Amino acid sequence: MEMQHVLSADQFSRSDLNHILSRSAEMEEILKKGGSKICDGRILGALFYEPSTRTRLSFETAMMRLGGNVVSETDVNFSSITKGEVIEDTIRMVGGYTDIIAIRTKTKGQANIAAQYSPVPVMNGGDGAGEHPTQSLLDLYTIAKHHRIGDEPLKVAFVGDLKYGRTVHSLAKVLRHFDGVELSFVAPEVIQMPTEYTQAGDNVSYDLSSEILQNSDVIYDTRMQQERFEDMEKFREVRDSFIFTPEIVGQMKSSAILMHPLPRVNEIKQSVDAMPQAKYFEQAQNGVPVRMALIAELLKA
Ligand code: CP
Repeated sequence: MEMQHVLSADQFSRSDLNHILSRSAEMEEILKKGGSKICDGRILGALFYEPSTRTRLSFETAMMRLGGNVVSETDVNFSSITKGEVIEDTIRMVGGYTDIIAIRTKTKGQANIAAQYSPVPVMNGGDGAGEHPTQSLLDLYTIAKHHRIGDEPLKVAFVGDLKYGRTVHSLAKVLRHFDGVELSFVAPEVIQMPTEYTQAGDNVSYDLSSEILQNSDVIYDTRMQQERFEDMEKFREVRDSFIFTPEIVGQMKSSAILMHPLPRVNEIKQSVDAMPQAKYFEQAQNGVPVRMALIAELLKA
């Protein structure tokens, strides 16, 4: 598999996705044995200009489990960006210090700009309301652990903030590669899936109906992205549109899975966590082997 950067879910072919799934499974086995040293002497630069727990820490853990090291910039207030440095210059510098960069930015498209100026591979850890391609791969890996994706019909319902929730943009693109996948988008109109990510044949709905709850194989819920709303009144109108309680999740098939990229706020009650459908913590855990696989591929390790 030839890959210079990870910037968008658009870049992956079906064969790339199969390769990443298989390499991630290998990494999961390596993790059980305590990790490896294939990235000994290599350094990851983690530049996170928006808050993150899972993405940054799983990238850093992945590099360390491969035997490498990490340098991080996690608070824009302590970055020279605050003095007016442009991202192009920051990336040139960090690319001179490190072997690979993971970056999260507030603005859509900045990971692509970073890649243009970087002397080393760049991984997009989320660019504003744009994409989150590495998340889509760990999401795919999680789905593939529970369903025979591509070999049997699979109904996937995306629920919540589909306009600003970048993880759903990337995952919808990735799922298009697999036969038999049917996508439903469930959101209030003001935060429905942007048309650039939809196709003829998708189901668009403003309510979470019993039919969707009872028939979906995967329900992928997302947080209302308060920080991206320009109008707080609109945010207040939609923020509690869908709340997953044990009664709601109890309507799902026993084989169905409930996913969420996390963090959740109040859209999934903690009382759901012990239910068999709840897979969001397992999903977050899968970030480590999948990001190990991506780092190893990009560094040809
Ligand atoms: N899923 C995800 O991107 O989580 P963080 O914002 O904590 O990185």
